[in-house]
Amino acid sequence: MSNPSLQAVRGMNDILPDEAQLWLWFEDTVREWLDSYGYRNIRMPLVEPTALFKRAIGEVTDIVEKEMYSFEDSLNGDHLTLRPEGTASCVRAVLQHNLLYNAPQRLYYSGPMFRHERPQKGRYRQFHQIGVEAMGFASPDIDAEQILMCARLWRKLGLTDVTLQINTLGDAAARKQHREKLIAYFAQYEDLLDEDATRRLHSNPLRILDSKNPQMQELIAAAPKLMDELHEDAILHFEAVKSVLKQHGVAYEINPRLVRGLDYYNRTVFEWVTTSLGAQGTICAGGRYDGLIEQIGGKPSAACGFAMGVERLLSLLQAEPKVVLASPLDVYLVHQGELADAMAGVLAEQLRDAGLRVVLHCGDGGFKSQMKKADASGAQFAVIVGDDEAQTGQATLKPLRGEGEQARIAQIELAQMINKQINRAFQRG
Ligand code: HAM
Repeated sequence: MSNPSLQAVRGMNDILPDEAQLWLWFEDTVREWLDSYGYRNIRMPLVEPTALFKRAIGEVTDIVEKEMYSFEDSLNGDHLTLRPEGTASCVRAVLQHNLLYNAPQRLYYSGPMFRHERPQKGRYRQFHQIGVEAMGFASPDIDAEQILMCARLWRKLGLTDVTLQINTLGDAAARKQHREKLIAYFAQYEDLLDEDATRRLHSNPLRILDSKNPQMQELIAAAPKLMDELHEDAILHFEAVKSVLKQHGVAYEINPRLVRGLDYYNRTVFEWVTTSLGAQGTICAGGRYDGLIEQIGGKPSAACGFAMGVERLLSLLQAEPKVVLASPLDVYLVHQGELADAMAGVLAEQLRDAGLRVVLHCGDGGFKSQMKKADASGAQFAVIVGDDEAQTGQATLKPLRGEGEQARIAQIELAQMINKQINRAFQRG
């Protein structure tokens, strides 16, 4: 397309039909997996009041400082933001509809999120998440359940190059103490701090620990450790999570530098990372956010959740060339001749009645060109009806993929015959 102003916004991708097949399969797989743990679907708007994200994610975070698509609604002056993540919206919805009134909630959502980041492989301005939130759960069994859930999904998807990093951020009091020690420590070395770190020194010193700047690494390595400030409850909580992981044989690495880029976390945090995707290797991340519900106006209520990046997971699936998608189409119906043309539409409907996925050739074209289209369609079979077949109530069944001989059979036996032979599942080789 020559007019760049009419192309998709940078960092926002079209998902074309060939690729969308993998998305559909992934979404089905994920839905089954979520069902098997009793998580229920919730759907929130893509746009929320800007104040919600500022309050939930934190004013001094990359997301709120520089990545949100925020705008003023010119019709009424409202300050709105395209959601950069789902946890804040999910908590807002739960509180607005009083869902925590008499029962804790296991919820999930999926859909696009928006962050104005510098686009690169695995990092987009519109990307998709599957988010999983358990609200009203205080004990460590739910943290562990969510991590085990992830491990099961990776197994189900056949992913092998994925490792788990965990950490505990402790509770508010310990973090306050740690924060004060960090400020005092980094303030001693103010001339060694880069621009970001200087800006964050008093507002969010914990984020300095997350810096990727090689020149700051030595300073960061010697900084006061949160681990040294943790209170007993938080330590026991973390021990309990680790012990369930051990019990289930889920390997983990403790990463004391894992602090996460959103302010609402406390206690357990975790990330699943892969080395197969280059710089954007975190495919799934989350943790506990016991203070957020109260912060957004609800009664104090503990919670824990995570979200995975769908684009990253799918490119990981594609990086391992084991995924073979079965054809989304069973039959391409080829027909030529007056009687055959009249009969073909009825036959196509009958095959669909039997559960088959059928494309009926529409428009002109001789046998040869129709057969080319049948091949290109990805269908597993061509069903061919010429006047010859039409007169005898028959059709020719021609396998287009794999083995099998072409055969002429009665139209009434066609559906059963095809159903016996088709392969609907995705396969892993
Ligand atoms: P997050 O770490 O900001 O957490 O995002 C979760 C995942 O979304 C990341 O691990 C990554 O796979 C994917 N992701 C993030 N940004 C991008 C991007 N620009 N392009 C492609 N993929 C991206 C959250 O959003 C929290 N709400 C997770 C959570 C739920 N914590 C508790 N409950």
